[in-house]
Amino acid sequence: MPSINSRVQEAYAMNDLVHLAIIMDGNGRWAKRQGKERPFGHKEGAKKVREITEYASKMGVKYLSLYAFSTENWNRPKTEVALLMKLLSSFLKSEVDNLKKNNIRFDVIGDMSKLSSRLQKEISNAKVATKECTGLTQVLAINYGAHDEILRAVNKLLHVKSAITKETLEANLDTAGIPPVDLLIRTGGDYRLSNFLLWQAAYAELFFTKTLWPEFSVGELETIVSEYEQTERRFGGVSE
Ligand code: IPE
Ligand code: IPE
Ligand code: MG
Repeated sequence: MPSINSRVQEAYAMNDLVHLAIIMDGNGRWAKRQGKERPFGHKEGAKKVREITEYASKMGVKYLSLYAFSTENWNRPKTEVALLMKLLSSFLKSEVDNLKKNNIRFDVIGDMSKLSSRLQKEISNAKVATKECTGLTQVLAINYGAHDEILRAVNKLLHVKSAITKETLEANLDTAGIPPVDLLIRTGGDYRLSNFLLWQAAYAELFFTKTLWPEFSVGELETIVSEYEQTERRFGGVSE
């Protein structure tokens, strides 16, 4: 017998959650709080990705976009950038089997041309290996910045003689074919988007949590999602 509270919640649930986006922030601060160096936080953060991805898939989410490395993250010390690239590479190798097992398709957004040819190869291998998967699509944002993405799209359209439309622009973004973001979560306590999915999140519901990424949990995700479900999304219209 469900409690009254959960029955009320079910009655209010009204929003589908097709595209969930997460700015996974706070790895470095989490490590420092443990008395460890930043790389330790990045390693723990990478482990969290599997747990949250599998849970989002069970919730019926179709697209999960995860901000892994921004166009601005190249400004970090060389050693930290190198470690992040190494972690991405081992993530790709270690996760592919698990993604396949869970029917999860792997995809990326961002400018891959700036990555090492080895990492580019690993990325394309992961995409090929999971291309038949029909469940959730995990979209990793690597060397991604919304300004860079929009500029690349506009430059691809320079040869077109007619006016650029919403549809033609969207078809040339890295997220072509992926629906807009419904819910965007940022961990780590800051209230900013840091150049993530600025076009696609135009009508996203935004949730900011102080929890640092390595400590984010499926329980907290559930709480945020149930609040999201009860939000009235008006898209510029009026209340029903
Ligand atoms: C997020 O954690 C991971 C990346 C940006 C790659 P941070 O490394 O930004 O951690 P904080 O924000 O400094 O704690
Ligand atoms: C955003 O986090 C990018 C990623 C999570 C990959 P940052 O730590 O780079 O963002 P800022 O610098 O605090 O805005
Ligand atoms: Mg940060």
